[in-house]
Amino acid sequence: AETLGDAAAQSGRYFGAAVVPELLNDTNYVTTLDREFNAIVAENVMKWDATEPSRGQFNFSAGDQLVEHARSRGMLVRGHTLVWHAQQPGWVQGLSGNDLRQAMIDHINGVAGHWSGDIYAWDVVNEAFEWDGTRRQSNLQQQLGQGWIEEAFHAARAADPNAKLCYNDYSIDGINLKSTAIYNMVIDFQARGVPIDCVGIQSHLSWDSDLSSYQANLQRFADLGIDVEITELDVGGSGSAQAAVYQQVTEACLAVARCTGITTWGITDQHTWRPNDTPLLFDANYQKKPAYHAVLAAL
Ligand code: XIL
Repeated sequence: AETLGDAAAQSGRYFGAAVVPELLNDTNYVTTLDREFNAIVAENVMKWDATEPSRGQFNFSAGDQLVEHARSRGMLVRGHTLVWHAQQPGWVQGLSGNDLRQAMIDHINGVAGHWSGDIYAWDVVNEAFEWDGTRRQSNLQQQLGQGWIEEAFHAARAADPNAKLCYNDYSIDGINLKSTAIYNMVIDFQARGVPIDCVGIQSHLSWDSDLSSYQANLQRFADLGIDVEITELDVGGSGSAQAAVYQQVTEACLAVARCTGITTWGITDQHTWRPNDTPLLFDANYQKKPAYHAVLAAL
């Protein structure tokens, strides 16, 4: 195959990118997106601050633009993200107790309900654990208590019964305290009938990241009967060292039957959330980097 999307599709997988709607007017950006990728995720515009800037007032226009772009080209859409401690609108940060609980449920109903049927998989909850496996002491955790994650998953299932429901986090690229806590949460959810279909491994990596247990970690989640997805892949560095990390991640996903797809957190080094780095597959001039060729060959 000649493109990332076509190569991934040969094994029934997708290859996606995080996208910002403003750049869909940029010819190089949209040409590369449409040629190479068969899935997208909103880098920002489906987050709580973007979709519900004031309570009960939803703004779906930017997200609709991405969904329409994807729909007309047969791309999958990942939903990112319903509930997160970051990028909350100011009004949420002032809420307490059951008022925050109701706001969270209403937000999930509003957003997942609006895009019901359009989303392949939702990152229902993002980044709720610390490196040592304890819960992050966010406003959600402090105000709502331990049950808030499963409440979010139940609400998401009701709002969009067809989307896969994922828990998504970073620094869970190997077997460690944090990924094990999430692994145990999945087992607990399954035992108690809390809906969960997938775990998203963000994979914000570096050229010297330790990937020695990367594949084994994907496999242990898959062995629970859920999917794993590489949801926000980018790799600091350049050249062959960067390419080698991209290759290892791709090979690990391909080796795990329930690793259903890979998303890079952007397209080009021109537009990345890691501004002092060159972490993506296309350089600032949209030329294919060594990392691109490594991924394509591994798919
Ligand atoms: C980042 C975006 O890329 C930035 O544009 C924004 O300013 C902050 O958020 N983990 C996540 C993503 O789940 O939502 C984050 O995206 C990157 C880290």
